[in-house]
Amino acid sequence: MVFLVAGARPNFMKLYPIVEELMKEKMKYRIIHTGQHYDKEMSDAFFKDLGLPEPDIHLGIGSGTHAEQTAQIMIAFEKVCIKERPDLIMVVGDVNSTVACALVAAKLLIPVAHVEAGLRSFDRTMPEEINRLLTDQISDFLFTTCEDANRNLIREGIPEEKIHFVGNVMIDTLLKHLEMAKKSGMIERLGLARDGGVIAYALITLHRPSNVDDPRTLKKIFGVLNEIARKIPVIFPVHPRTLKRLQEFGLKGQINYVDVSAANFDKSCLDGRPLRVVGIPPLGYLNFLCLMSKAALVITDSGGIQEETTILGVPCLTLRNNTERPVTVREGTNFVVGNDARRIKEKALDILENGIRRRRIPKYWDGKAAERIVKILTKSF
Ligand code: UD1
Repeated sequence: MVFLVAGARPNFMKLYPIVEELMKEKMKYRIIHTGQHYDKEMSDAFFKDLGLPEPDIHLGIGSGTHAEQTAQIMIAFEKVCIKERPDLIMVVGDVNSTVACALVAAKLLIPVAHVEAGLRSFDRTMPEEINRLLTDQISDFLFTTCEDANRNLIREGIPEEKIHFVGNVMIDTLLKHLEMAKKSGMIERLGLARDGGVIAYALITLHRPSNVDDPRTLKKIFGVLNEIARKIPVIFPVHPRTLKRLQEFGLKGQINYVDVSAANFDKSCLDGRPLRVVGIPPLGYLNFLCLMSKAALVITDSGGIQEETTILGVPCLTLRNNTERPVTVREGTNFVVGNDARRIKEKALDILENGIRRRRIPKYWDGKAAERIVKILTKSF
């Protein structure tokens, strides 16, 4: 029996292709949802869009400080592991749920598989970097997405036989859903379709503590995003953390927030090019992928979006000082620009005017990563 652990939004799409392959191989599995993310749009929407089976066990943990959240997940997950004694637990990505469950399993001597192992930003002010380092040290199967990750793990003393370069499961999911996503109707709903085509627009996501938790930084970032919004529509599905901060800091007026999901939503409120960033509630997987695939520019501080834009060939500005995914810069369409307003504006305008060179697709980002993972597991069990 394999336990598949997921807790936060970026985990769910990584689970999907693994579940599919486990089903094909008739391997028994259970989905454990920690409840780190609990809003409908941050969790249920993804299960629905991807047709993922409902979680078998829901720990219902919710938000808290890092210690509270991690500790509560550990306490609840340990009880489940002791009762069910899985043969393997599989964790994905780098969120608090990932490290919490890996730690529980390792101490119960249950083998741990980490999908997306070895990524390093070398920035320990990021909570995710701590989660990555610790999870990798106690994992038995380290499934990597790129050669940088293999090198990082070797440097940290991980035995080579534990490292398996398999590719990127998130890209498996993207490739399987892209055509369906393009038909999601989100472009039309937002009034971005004109004369049989799609007008140029930018898509924003922003939720990292380093960008949104300080009022001056947040204000500065919205200053430049609103300058870009004077040139092209800028659509911003707002993460709950960011919405909370905008409200707390009295900055909600920086965006024109519209509830695009409401039944009576009237897209004419977006006509005539709103000159401010248009905030909308967080989107499900297909609607977001639809917007991302047709955007002229994506501006983000997410990890996964740097990879998804690389596959889509869509230019991406990453508002961070570093990335744990350098392959997206070297081979993909990603530019790491920090949060300096002038740099963001210059690069955004340059891309909108001149475009970018078409880049390469990183090795093994071919839709078959989950198949490779499950092959390795069936050999070992
Ligand atoms: C977490 C991950 C981050 C990932 C992000 C994707 C960690 C350390 N961080 O950050 O790596 O990129 O998810 O979204 O695991 N909230 C809600 N509803 C929800 C979830 C959260 O309102 O369903 C609000 C709460 O106020 C909460 C805050 O968002 O306190 C932050 O949530 P949390 O899970 O702690 O971290 P994220 O910022 O979402």
